[in-house]
Amino acid sequence: MDALRIEGGQRLSGTIAVDGSKNAALPALAAAILAQDTFTLRGVPPLQDIQNMTHLLGELGCAVQVDDRDITIDTTDTSRVHAPYDIVRTMRASICVLGPLLAARGEARVAMPGGCAIGDRPVDLHLRGLEALGATVSLEGGDMVLRADTLKGATVFMGGPFGSTVLGTANVLCAAVRATGETIIESAACEPEVAFLARLLRAMGADIEGEGTPRITVRGVERLSGVDIDLMPDRIVAGTLAVASAITNGNVTLERFPMDHLLAVLDRLRESGVHVEQLDSTQSPDCCTVQITTDRRLRPILFTTQPHPGFPTDLQAQVMSLLCLADGNSIVTEKIYPDRFLHVPELARMGATVIRLGATVVVQGVDELVGAPVMASDLRGGAALVLAGLAAKGETLVRRIYHMDRGYTNLEVQLASLGAHIERVDGGPN
Ligand code: EPU
Repeated sequence: MDALRIEGGQRLSGTIAVDGSKNAALPALAAAILAQDTFTLRGVPPLQDIQNMTHLLGELGCAVQVDDRDITIDTTDTSRVHAPYDIVRTMRASICVLGPLLAARGEARVAMPGGCAIGDRPVDLHLRGLEALGATVSLEGGDMVLRADTLKGATVFMGGPFGSTVLGTANVLCAAVRATGETIIESAACEPEVAFLARLLRAMGADIEGEGTPRITVRGVERLSGVDIDLMPDRIVAGTLAVASAITNGNVTLERFPMDHLLAVLDRLRESGVHVEQLDSTQSPDCCTVQITTDRRLRPILFTTQPHPGFPTDLQAQVMSLLCLADGNSIVTEKIYPDRFLHVPELARMGATVIRLGATVVVQGVDELVGAPVMASDLRGGAALVLAGLAAKGETLVRRIYHMDRGYTNLEVQLASLGAHIERVDGGPN
């Protein structure tokens, strides 16, 4: 199995452009099921999760053509409605096809996703939302089966115990665009990826207002046409690369940086002594060029993950790696996935002093991290270990990097282009 070997201690410098967003691409590609015409999404990174989604769309009767980073989808066979467990278990985001299948084909049969390393991830809010639009829901042989001859607009509340749901909002949005009458999605997820989906659906002819706010209003239409659209930049990749610069005391310039989508993170990074400067003020703040530099000593900070526009859970682990080297005690609280801390014991193997108390971790800054063999257990936690390895003294070997290949395009190539000593090696059996 592939592993990443890192010789830490190199200060990163240079310029790199941020890839397109995986988490915006997945529901966007699923929305192609709604298009009665050719659908093209441009600038899609060649990630494992994207391949899983195009494979699933193929299983659902879509003709998918991948031309470098542009994906074109034509729906030829509309009879297929089954997302089987074999695919869903490799990618939970397969659930994105639930709303589009129900709206376009009157039925969706999607395997219930199983356990997940980052904690419990129920789907009750997806089902409740689609039921409110008139779907019947049953569980058959491990599959969620939803049926509706016609969907009818309604007021749908998408809030749950941990805030609103991102992909649940995406599913309801995709169903509501084809429902009769008006749907109001209350407590909608405000994440930029959901706003991107709404813009994409509007470009296909949908009537949507309020995306990016907790209330989205949708008036159903009979037909959605095709679309040709550029994918938005990935705010989590952008944040990860910013931390890579900061943790190595580097000087990295990031192009296509979605500053507007990262305000909570930038606020915390600045408090800690990381400088993020927009280099060209004429560029739009949701896709601009920034330079990342750092004070000699980092200050400890407090942060709590929250739904957007709060601090994103998908950057909790990476920023924790940075705080391992701050001058004092930081406190990190996880409010979205209270068990998303599999990176904590691995960071401890590298000399970090990290104490977990329930959904909170106290990070006592140390003077240096020390390279060690460590194991990735999830996508973002794995990225955090790579970041720690960049700063650590000596060699770090990060195993199980297939997790990172789901969400970062050749992370080692990107980091090596900035001067990191990192290579993909055969890490032996897992
Ligand atoms: N939740 C429920 N019921 C539901 C759905 C969610 O209680 O029916 C809970 C979850 O257990 C969690 C919270 O609500 O506590 C938020 O979950 P959400 O549904 O928003 O997560 P998601 O839509 O399944 C997306 C991203 C995740 C990201 C979360 C939160 C994609 C493909 N995935 O997942 O990304 O962490 O939103 O922002 O967009 C990642 O990229 O590493 C990743 C895990």
